[in-house]
Amino acid sequence: MLVYENVKKCYGTFMAVNGVSLHVNAGEVVCLIGPSGSGKSTLLRCTNALETIDGGEIRFEGKPLPTKDAEIRQIRQRMGMVFQSFELFPHKTALENVSIGLTTVKKMATEKARTRAIALLTKVGLADKTANYPANLSGGQQQRVAIARALAMEPHVMLFDEPTSALDPETVGEVLNVMRNLAQEGMTMIVVTHEMSFARRVANWVVVFERGQLLEQGPPQQIFEAPTIERTRDFLGHLGWSG
Ligand SMILES: Nc1ncnc2c1ncn2[C@@H]1O[C@H](COP(=O)(O)OP(=O)(O)O)[C@@H](O)[C@H]1O
Ligand SMILES: [Mg+2]
Repeated sequence: MLVYENVKKCYGTFMAVNGVSLHVNAGEVVCLIGPSGSGKSTLLRCTNALETIDGGEIRFEGKPLPTKDAEIRQIRQRMGMVFQSFELFPHKTALENVSIGLTTVKKMATEKARTRAIALLTKVGLADKTANYPANLSGGQQQRVAIARALAMEPHVMLFDEPTSALDPETVGEVLNVMRNLAQEGMTMIVVTHEMSFARRVANWVVVFERGQLLEQGPPQQIFEAPTIERTRDFLGHLGWSG
């Protein structure tokens, strides 16, 4: 689904991503972990072409990422992106936030888009909140609307950048549950997260970032129970992970 080969991204002379190689297969959940500033978000932004790369290659479904705006827009429709800050339209209801991409980008008829938005909001557990504005939803509920909005475009891969980092602790679980269900349905997902128990249980593959490079990667059992690199152990210990 996604292949990264020696990907590099620099800001001036600073290498934010410095030679990352990684394969993400269809149906896999890959969790990116690592200290703040290690390049995780940058790699996600390069993946959906919010940033251009300075070296190496990213291939999505067999083809290098395009550089022309029109083609990039096409590609982005196949990649759902969920950010730490939900980025919902404040003056639109939950239902409108989910349906707007369907009517504007996909040119779907209003009634059909509405039906689909209701189905998606039901899927994320918000059937009773379709008429709420973001201000009248909890953080966890807003993030679930954001996930439903991304799913509306029928993405082939979902990219999550710390989707629960801005949430009150009591609403983290409901968002992780939605993500776990998506994973079980076979959605391909790349998830930047500090939720180690989620990564341990849901990921097929865990990648540890440090200073723009991959320190270590492997199945979660290996990374969480038998990390081969001392600095992986330090990082996990620092987060309070004890296996
Ligand atoms: N637009 C930018 N301009 C300059 N430096 C940036 C920019 N975006 C990110 N960086 C730097 O690149 C590094 C990696 O950032 P980021 O990918 O956001 O890390 P992470 O998501 O792992 O916390 C950081 O040192 C950050 O300050
Ligand atoms: Mg980040």
